[in-house]
Amino acid sequence: MVEPDIRCHADVSELVDAAARVIAERIAHWIRERGSCRFALAGGGTPRPIYERLAQADLAGAIDWARVQVFWGDERCVGPDDEASNYRMAYTALLAHVPVTEANVHRIEGERGPAAAARRYAETLGDQPLDLVLLGMGGDGHTASLFPDSPDLATAERVIPTHSPVAPVDRVSISLRVINGAREVYLLVSGADKAERLAEVLQQIESGEPTLPAARVQPRSGFLYWLTDAAAMQHLTPLNL
Ligand code: 6PG
Repeated sequence: MVEPDIRCHADVSELVDAAARVIAERIAHWIRERGSCRFALAGGGTPRPIYERLAQADLAGAIDWARVQVFWGDERCVGPDDEASNYRMAYTALLAHVPVTEANVHRIEGERGPAAAARRYAETLGDQPLDLVLLGMGGDGHTASLFPDSPDLATAERVIPTHSPVAPVDRVSISLRVINGAREVYLLVSGADKAERLAEVLQQIESGEPTLPAARVQPRSGFLYWLTDAAAMQHLTPLNL
């Protein structure tokens, strides 16, 4: 099991600033190392203020955005202008404000329907590993659009259509195979409403019996970071970690 590097920040605003700084630094790192950075964005609400902070000049200015290939970890099967679209959230919070090359923005075309969109995105993603993957965690322990107790968790496919217990139901997600093949993975978890589940997930990792999707994020590279805040970590102390 990969021993996660858990960083607990005092509150959400400290988490937002620290996460945006780390992401900016790691994108620049991979551009230096590899000439480009294959960066997969997370959906949901937690990353939005982090994207907005990353778009600010002091951070965005240090990134050669023309060398960033932008992907998504998952998408809801809606159009790019839909309120529920992860693409739309990231576009309005970040991509519209930085000089990213349009051809390098690889959106999951959820409007095609789950199966067709997944097939198409597997082609778009290709076989190269992602350099940097951002993920969130839901209250049920899901991550990307990989939900608990789903056979999807063991798939050998790279991109799969999935079924969310909450609307929008139809989703497309990169698989654990792709997530765990990435060079580095950041899980963003904030707020008291995630505390119980986060404690359960970290205990599963500690005990070496991960069943929840978020606990099965185990990048083979070993570079796994949990970026959290004190509210989310309230059930955990250094002793029981
Ligand atoms: C999505 C996300 C999903 C998200 C979690 C946490 O499309 O909904 O990719 O995995 O990260 O549901 O969402 P919040 O950050 O809104 O709590």
